[in-house]
Amino acid sequence: MNKSISPFEKSAKTPKDDKVLLAQNEITDKKESEQGVVKKKDEIKIEELPGVGAATAEKLREAGYTTLMSLAVASPGELVEVCAIGDAVAKKIINNARSKLDMGFESGEDLLRKRLSVIKITTGSKALDGLFGGGIETGAVTEVYGAYGSGKTSLAHQLAVSVQLPKEKGGANGIALWIDSEGTLRPEFIERIAKAYGLDTNIALKNFRGARAFNSDHQMLMIEKIEELIKDQGLPIKLVIVDSLMSHFRSEFSGRGQLADRQQKLNKHLHELLRLAHTYDIAIYVTNQVMAKPDTFFGDPTEAIGGHVLHHASTYRCYLRRGKKGSRVAKLVDAPAMPENECIFVVTDGGIKDV
Ligand SMILES: Nc1ncnc2c1ncn2[C@@H]1O[C@H](COP(=O)(O)OP(=O)(O)OP(=O)(O)O)[C@@H](O)[C@H]1O
Ligand SMILES: [Mg+2]
Repeated sequence: MNKSISPFEKSAKTPKDDKVLLAQNEITDKKESEQGVVKKKDEIKIEELPGVGAATAEKLREAGYTTLMSLAVASPGELVEVCAIGDAVAKKIINNARSKLDMGFESGEDLLRKRLSVIKITTGSKALDGLFGGGIETGAVTEVYGAYGSGKTSLAHQLAVSVQLPKEKGGANGIALWIDSEGTLRPEFIERIAKAYGLDTNIALKNFRGARAFNSDHQMLMIEKIEELIKDQGLPIKLVIVDSLMSHFRSEFSGRGQLADRQQKLNKHLHELLRLAHTYDIAIYVTNQVMAKPDTFFGDPTEAIGGHVLHHASTYRCYLRRGKKGSRVAKLVDAPAMPENECIFVVTDGGIKDV
């Protein structure tokens, strides 16, 4: 595979200029120092691991495994594939990385410290941020589902801008990457939202990548490409949008007998998204469709598709529907340590806003 060809294009509206990630929000400047802070804790070099000689370290590094954490969360098959080492060696390396990292139980203090380093990306609406406990969280998968026109894609556009803001303004000083399976990504909407936030629209578009996914395999391949973008180009990706997660899976595996195959493949995809979220501390925002529940007599007769596999993988689940006077109603359905709650917001030309 030709590594230099990335499906993630800069926005079509971006002027021809290869210098991406310019001054706005000092994204490039801050990146290095921020990474430094994150790395310090596991700054043990990979050749210090028993079983990793200089040659193997070189191979691992070339394949992008530069930190203990990246090795600790890898699978043996992955290392065998990319580094041409044996299965036993791969397992040994992973186990050693895990024991060095002390990936077992951590004290409440350490856990709290980790929680405090989580970034919450603003949705543009205080009410909606509040619902999510501050915004869309890095290191987690947030699933938003709802009917046609409920605002899922609009919120994705908003987040693609929000993520670029400095942290004190509800951003993550990073860039968004969008996997578009429905052809509904609109760079001009990103431009309008950026303008409403007083950002330089050219830079806002440069700090964004989008790609169309044509089928589920293609969609899954893009996750690998995202890792390449992070490792090879050092892009400070803080948000990955998959809009929508299920449409290809749903249309490609439509027969009843294909459900198990679909769920297996979906599980793999979600696993890769989760790994991306954890390894690089990225917020994953996925949209999902709904289906009618035929046996409902009370309440809303719709539910998200994707079954248990998706339910399990999503850290936050939120249901959107149309409300009164053009507003949207968001209901937090599933979230750690948070009550089920509702709020309303509106979609405007300048993004998501409070009512
Ligand atoms: N500038 C705007 N001002 C007000 N409302 C807007 C604006 N842009 C889009 N909308 C509203 O948002 C709706 C589209 O929402 P969106 O595309 O986010 O829905 P969705 O949940 O992604 O739907 P689908 O399931 O079809 O993908 C439009 O129907 C429109 O009502
Ligand atoms: Mg949509």
